[in-house]
Amino acid sequence: MTEIARLAAETESAVATAQTLDALEEARLAVLGKKGWLSAAMKELGALSPEDRKTRATQLNEVKDRVTASLEARKTVLADAAIEARLKAETLDMTLPLAESAEQAGRIHPVSQVIDEITEIFAAMGFSIAEGPDIEDDFHNFTALNIPPEHPARQMQDTFYLPKRGADGEQIVLRTHTSPVQVRTMRGGPPPYRIIVPGRTYRSDYDMTHTPMFHQVEGLVIDRAIHMGHLKGVLTEFCKAFFETDKVKMRFRPSYFPFTEPSAEVDINCSRDGGVLRVGEGNDWLEILGSGMVNPKVLEYCGLDPNEWQGFAFGMGIDRIAMLKYGIPDLRSFFDADLRWLKHYGFVPLDIPTLGQGVAR
Ligand code: DAH
Repeated sequence: MTEIARLAAETESAVATAQTLDALEEARLAVLGKKGWLSAAMKELGALSPEDRKTRATQLNEVKDRVTASLEARKTVLADAAIEARLKAETLDMTLPLAESAEQAGRIHPVSQVIDEITEIFAAMGFSIAEGPDIEDDFHNFTALNIPPEHPARQMQDTFYLPKRGADGEQIVLRTHTSPVQVRTMRGGPPPYRIIVPGRTYRSDYDMTHTPMFHQVEGLVIDRAIHMGHLKGVLTEFCKAFFETDKVKMRFRPSYFPFTEPSAEVDINCSRDGGVLRVGEGNDWLEILGSGMVNPKVLEYCGLDPNEWQGFAFGMGIDRIAMLKYGIPDLRSFFDADLRWLKHYGFVPLDIPTLGQGVAR
């Protein structure tokens, strides 16, 4: 075997076994680089006789062609393999769950969720949302709702009184209920109205089921021919949608509120078997709201003619029905801002309540 044939065989084997493009380039330089053995052999051609030069040159060119072809072939193989490896390394499994983002890790507070649920249900019945200030004056919170000064209901409500306001010393309070927004709505423009008022309310009270700040939702419908049947129909519809069962039984129990006449408190049936509260089962009753036909005196305070307009109103404790629906035992925990509690009882932000999918999931 000539020297050239030996070197050529060595090169072929180096090319065939090169595992990376870098190793292949190294093999190429060893032959065809400036200091490669084939380049060196080419340089020596000049020293040969014309005859020998021709044969040798032909031989060297053949070797060069072969080596070049092998290098090309190996290069294609290695480049393909590199792409394969990269595709494999960069593969994404689209079925894997996403890493939890900050928005997903957050939770919606049960009170916010329940307000959204209530809003969704009443919006579908044609109600819109009204709001009023947390700091109310005596007129809106009491007088216009037919609760005159010295009326016992003022004591019953454990009112937080604020320092008197203005030159005439107007009494202001933290609103004890959302009912003053009835007054603001009726005095704010002509009927008909169909509103709900979710919002914060305040009373000086603190135990398992009472906190100084809590939430209510008020409802008000005023039109020309509204009667108690409408009240009953709306509240029945609400309870079925909110508790997501047609089984829930309701009891309209005669009651008294200064701002409604007649008045009814509404109870829903529940069972307390084994210490677990289940809504819509059993023969126990749970009070969930107060309601009634708006007292003609309230209409008059608000500048409406009771012979022309009438309607119904209701007021419901939001925190209380949130506790009932989601089995949360202590109201005080709602306002502790304990992240472990929120993680447990809170809602995923994308779980937006809709009637179509059931208000809660
Ligand atoms: N405002 C009452 C309360 O806080 C609840 C209430 C009862 C509101 C009857 C109403 C109603 O609109 O008609 O205890």
